Amino acid sequence: MTTEKDWIKDLVIYQIYPRSFYDANGDGIGDLPGVLQKLDYLEELGINAIWFSPVYRSPNDDNGYDISGYQEIMAEFGTMEDWERLRDACKEKGIRIIMDLVVNHSSDEHPWFLASRSSRDNDKSEYYIWRDAVDGHEPNNWASAFGGSAWEYVPERDQYYFHFFSKKQPDLNWACPKLREEIHQMINWWVDKGVDGFRVDAISYLDKPQDFPDSTQPAQPDGYSFPDILAGRPGTHAYIREMNQHIYAPRNVLTVGEVSAPTVEELGNYVRTSREEFDMAIPFVPPIVEIDTWTPEKLLHDIQESYEALKEDGWWARFFSNHDKPRQVSLYGDDRAYWEVSAKFLAMFLHTLPGTPFVYQGEEIGMTNVKLPSIEDYNDLDTLNMYKQGLLAGMTPEAALARAQLISRDNARTPMQWDNSAKGGFTTGTPWLSVNPNTKEINVKAQRQDPFSIYQCYRNLIALRKKSSALARGDMAFLETGCKELIAFTRSTPGETLLMFHNFSSKEHAIPDALRKDAKKALLSSYDREGGYRGPMLRAYESVIFQM
Ligand code: NOJ
Ligand code: CA
Repeated sequence: MTTEKDWIKDLVIYQIYPRSFYDANGDGIGDLPGVLQKLDYLEELGINAIWFSPVYRSPNDDNGYDISGYQEIMAEFGTMEDWERLRDACKEKGIRIIMDLVVNHSSDEHPWFLASRSSRDNDKSEYYIWRDAVDGHEPNNWASAFGGSAWEYVPERDQYYFHFFSKKQPDLNWACPKLREEIHQMINWWVDKGVDGFRVDAISYLDKPQDFPDSTQPAQPDGYSFPDILAGRPGTHAYIREMNQHIYAPRNVLTVGEVSAPTVEELGNYVRTSREEFDMAIPFVPPIVEIDTWTPEKLLHDIQESYEALKEDGWWARFFSNHDKPRQVSLYGDDRAYWEVSAKFLAMFLHTLPGTPFVYQGEEIGMTNVKLPSIEDYNDLDTLNMYKQGLLAGMTPEAALARAQLISRDNARTPMQWDNSAKGGFTTGTPWLSVNPNTKEINVKAQRQDPFSIYQCYRNLIALRKKSSALARGDMAFLETGCKELIAFTRSTPGETLLMFHNFSSKEHAIPDALRKDAKKALLSSYDREGGYRGPMLRAYESVIFQM
């Protein structure tokens, strides 16, 4: 059955982290006119939707994820007119606009919060979550995601407010109907302005247990514990459904929820079509956990499980990267010996899965993690906290720095590498965050001219997806290869079948005889520079798509 919402299945979504994309006025900070100047590049890549990380007014405690004006543009990024120009240019090119929607919390500099904190009886008093001290202390033992207590004291009210993220990101009180009404109006305002969809930030925590019981989780080095009962409460699902029924569904707006959903059942609660919540979801896994626990086998298991669970009644956001994760080629691939081929491999694997692919800025040229020499060089508040917690736990400064370098969200946030000059062609000024020195070798300019670059591999994949209904919409069937690192599956519609092999390792693996007979006409290969598929052995990180 085709529905009105089926347009979302034909998207390839490019995520822009505006601060680091392109700086048009030389102040060292990426901006909206910078995006406009690079729109032809994105059109050439072939993507047809952009998700913008927050561009709203913000004091930048968490780089825009702390909003002080929902209907204003951050001055460093430009003006509302710049945004409108960009919108018009996107519309002209058929590129959909997806805005980040951060409504679990605002900035502590938002006028609502300034009013709310001023006294116990003002008309915004209930817009945030206020509690009295208990025995002269914070109301409970909950940790903030960015370190320290999740509560902050305000003398004017002689009360604490709750902040799951930094203390400059107070949680909005969704139990207050007037607040919900304001949020709905704001969302509608953006839809009126021509926005096609939203990526909805940290949406699993809207409803709070009103008695705020202590967490039983083990304490962090600083003594506070992550709340174990905050994510995915029934009340949160009710608030999401309310938004869907009032806004998203009637206005045909795409929604991608960023959710905390450790099991496939919990994921399904947000994205099964029958739930009427989100079209797709980005499950959040703390990088500190993922780095230590991921394996190709686990990845494949999760993909299989969520495919089975949602194939009749749901859809998938497919991503390996975003602004919160290490660079994908450094995390899942090999950014040294197999840099190019493993970056292509990851792209081919992801873009052949059912679901909507996401491309995070720079992944299309194989940008890698960076190692900044000192903790002072890092900007991300999460990184700084991790370093602090490491020291508290007894690590040496060297060890704490090494750990922070590995996990830091700044790995994904170094400026886009446009050319081989010292500042990577990102800015003429001083970049707000260091440019990765490997821009000398890894940059857009070089890869645009090279027919076998990672960039060309992305172009080929995106183009193939547009031609192939099997790739965009087809069913998936897994094939047994007898090897955990050799992944094989088909994608098919009644008229078309594609067969995929992905060798998720630096070792060679043979395609089993029984599957080889169908491996005839190769369409794309991660070894295109070497002349393509040779078979029957698949080389390190070799990925091949066959037409059957
Ligand atoms: C998730 C965002 O992706 C992340 O960057 C941010 O720090 C938190 N939510 C808080 O908004
Ligand atoms: Ca700028």
